[in-house]
Amino acid sequence: MNRAAHHRLVVVLSLVAALGTGAAVLALRHLPQWHLDIESAMDAIGLDPGMAVGEAGAGDGYFTLPMAKRVGKAGTVYANDINRRALASLEARAKRDGLANVQTVVGEVDDPLFPRQDLDLIVVVHAFHDFDRPVEWLVNTKKYLRPGAAVAIIDLDPEKGAEPHFWSRSRIAGYAGKAGYVLSNAADGNPEHLILLLTPK
Ligand SMILES: C[S@@+](CC[C@H](N)C(=O)[O-])C[C@H]1O[C@@H](n2cnc3c(N)ncnc32)[C@H](O)[C@@H]1O
Repeated sequence: MNRAAHHRLVVVLSLVAALGTGAAVLALRHLPQWHLDIESAMDAIGLDPGMAVGEAGAGDGYFTLPMAKRVGKAGTVYANDINRRALASLEARAKRDGLANVQTVVGEVDDPLFPRQDLDLIVVVHAFHDFDRPVEWLVNTKKYLRPGAAVAIIDLDPEKGAEPHFWSRSRIAGYAGKAGYVLSNAADGNPEHLILLLTPK
């Protein structure tokens, strides 16, 4: 068993032992995902106050809410997903935290449908490996980026012990190349994650 799977098993068994099955399931929904240091990941991708940022596959807001805090009142986070229920949950969490700078966007499988074409950055966290049409999605997403801006992909890295369900750097590089992007590493030293920047050629 790899390190990520072992860690997940230990957490699940500990929660079941301590809380019983039902409460453990509820608790797991609120566990931080793996060992991602969100603040240093935001540093690595160059997220600054005042930015207009898109997030694709935002789910219920694991990375969205910290980003909204970082970009502040002068910035905006457009949180996309194809799952309306996830976005409804994200909206409730943003409201609870008093974050008025988050807008949700229901997208299509191959197009996030962001409402702006001048975004400073588009971020995809723990989600790109779930995208059914990654090349088409990358091609269609270029139009939402201002010149020089990038798509940042943050995900568990099979080369650092994640299950093969997650995508390797070389697999993502293949999709990026076909879609017309140049790929670079944004950060090293994360114990479980890869952080890649994809910039349109
Ligand atoms: C594993 S969740 C990750 C959610 C969140 N980013 C996190 O880190 O907790 C993956 C999300 O990607 C979404 N998703 C899958 N395919 C998508 C696509 N083509 N476009 C946008 N979102 C997609 C799913 O609905 C799901 O909410």
